[in-house]
Amino acid sequence: MNVAVACDHGGFPLKEIIVETIRRAGHDVTDLGTDSSDPVDYPDYAVKVGRAIQNGEVDRGILICGSGVGAAIAANKMRGIRAGVCHDTYSAHQSVEHDDANVLALGARIIGPELASELVLAFLKARFTGEERHVRRVSKVADLERGDQG
Ligand code: RB5
Repeated sequence: MNVAVACDHGGFPLKEIIVETIRRAGHDVTDLGTDSSDPVDYPDYAVKVGRAIQNGEVDRGILICGSGVGAAIAANKMRGIRAGVCHDTYSAHQSVEHDDANVLALGARIIGPELASELVLAFLKARFTGEERHVRRVSKVADLERGDQG
């Protein structure tokens, strides 16, 4: 799998360990920055990951900011992007299995490197079940995205 990783300054302390974790698990990583603790705006990095997924350059994305929340909000504004802030392993894999999540958002001010690595591995191992009820629900989310709530 090819995985895009990006962060803002709040997420930067976790980025390197996450990149390493993904590589060690046998995946390819596209590192989209930021590359220092100098302040940047998290939507700019959410867009980089979202575009890489939309263009088919990567299969999934990891976004890291201070809390994970801003990055997830920004990413979820993009067509076809389904991002969740998951700071427990159950949500990290269920977000993919049930909700077909393609982005995991993490907060470097909330969790430490060991938990972050476990969450990333749980997220990457998970596959969408494709069960009818989940397909139906994800498709209703896509309707919302198109502004079609009927
Ligand atoms: C940056 O200070 C912080 O606001 C950002 O990383 C993020 O936590 C927003 O949700």
